[in-house]
Amino acid sequence: MAAPPTHRFQAPKGTRDFLPGDMAVRRHVERAWRDAAIRHGFDEIDGPTFEHLDLYTVKSGPGIVSELFSFRRAGGDTDYALRPEFTPTLARMVAGMGASLPRPVKWFSIGSMFRAERPQRGRLREHVQWNVDLLGEASREADAEVVAVAADLLERLGLRPTDAQIKLNDRGAITRLLESLGLPVEATPAALALLDRRDKMEDAAFRAEAAMLGMSASAVAKFLDLSTQRVALGAEEAAPSAVREALLEGEESRTLTRALRARGLQPWCHWDLGIVRGLAYYTGTVFEVHETTGRERAIAGGGRYDELVELFGGAPTPAVGFAMGDVVIRLALEERGLLRSPEEYLPRPDVFVIEGRSEDDGRLPAIVAQLRRGGLHVRHSYRATRNIGKLLGDASKARARLAVILGREMERDAVVVRDLEAGAQEEVALADIVSALRAKLG
Ligand code: HAM
Repeated sequence: MAAPPTHRFQAPKGTRDFLPGDMAVRRHVERAWRDAAIRHGFDEIDGPTFEHLDLYTVKSGPGIVSELFSFRRAGGDTDYALRPEFTPTLARMVAGMGASLPRPVKWFSIGSMFRAERPQRGRLREHVQWNVDLLGEASREADAEVVAVAADLLERLGLRPTDAQIKLNDRGAITRLLESLGLPVEATPAALALLDRRDKMEDAAFRAEAAMLGMSASAVAKFLDLSTQRVALGAEEAAPSAVREALLEGEESRTLTRALRARGLQPWCHWDLGIVRGLAYYTGTVFEVHETTGRERAIAGGGRYDELVELFGGAPTPAVGFAMGDVVIRLALEERGLLRSPEEYLPRPDVFVIEGRSEDDGRLPAIVAQLRRGGLHVRHSYRATRNIGKLLGDASKARARLAVILGREMERDAVVVRDLEAGAQEEVALADIVSALRAKLG
């Protein structure tokens, strides 16, 4: 008889399977994200993983659709899209809650985002993203507060300012700079979107589009030259004149510099007028976190979006925030040897119970259940054998701290407890087992 046909499936392009070691590393990063946000006073939220398609096209236009996974239910007539980012969901939520929401709103979230990108190093079609947002505060102090969360996270994961930098800019400053180079103000949004795409474009196409917006070839060259300038916080006065004027003319950048310095963040941050950010909703500060070799894509990005909540029908609500994905931060940590081997992030069992008697009388499950009810993380052998050495090897491989060996002592309702690190062992009565193990685990 012919064998039934078999099917072999692969995960969709640009997605990942997380086996236990990978998942444990992901949880390590997520734990650092959650801890950093909570330490800074943010509460965790989440929203749906898909939204009405309009939520994304209303600000960015229909062009955004090619970057989304959008769909209709079979037989339905509503267009949906998997969320490519969290900010529109957040703005929708805040707009919907209206005045009942105490301000400032300090929220963070961790969840999967989906983008129809060409998969490449640092960019996938599904990634896990951490969002940190502060709404209801117009002052640049709020911008400094969210930047502080990003810096805290980098530091907690073992990165130093020589490994990663937060590059700041201000949409007002870029607008002034572009204006000083002859660009009509109304062409600014299109120019920012174009400048954001400059690395992905052929030179000629870039120049042609810039010319159409009213930027002369010399203005483009000047902008690209000025945008490579790195200006330390507090050193704005010493920057080339066009950069200095762009930064210092607006009160905002001065306030932000002051607020960041007051928080001791100057080693982590500098001004970079080349950071324009592609997203259409930013209105003021924009920033990105980059690792310093420049080999990887951005670790994180964010900025101020003071008009988005209102666009979604809410009260005028100033807002600032950022998001970090799990992909590039992991690459940056791996490259610097800041991740231990994946196994070391797996939860460590307290106890490994070994059946050391060849005649299985079925008491192991009851003992395992008793230990688990006592709050212990318990694993156990699946085959009874007198080869205790082999089973102890399995216990050590699982990185258990203690082994409980069911042997001849069971005849008097006792087991042998072995400390797998120190090697010492002793007999313990089953009646006292949970407290005896707890005492050993400390
Ligand atoms: P974004 O710059 O599009 O900003 O994404 C933020 C971060 O998410 C990136 O720096 C990167 O770490 C990660 N990321 C984005 N797309 C991908 C991808 N395809 N594969 C892997 N990682 C990716 C936003 O999403 C804004 N909504 C951030 C924000 C929050 N602004 C204000 N609040």
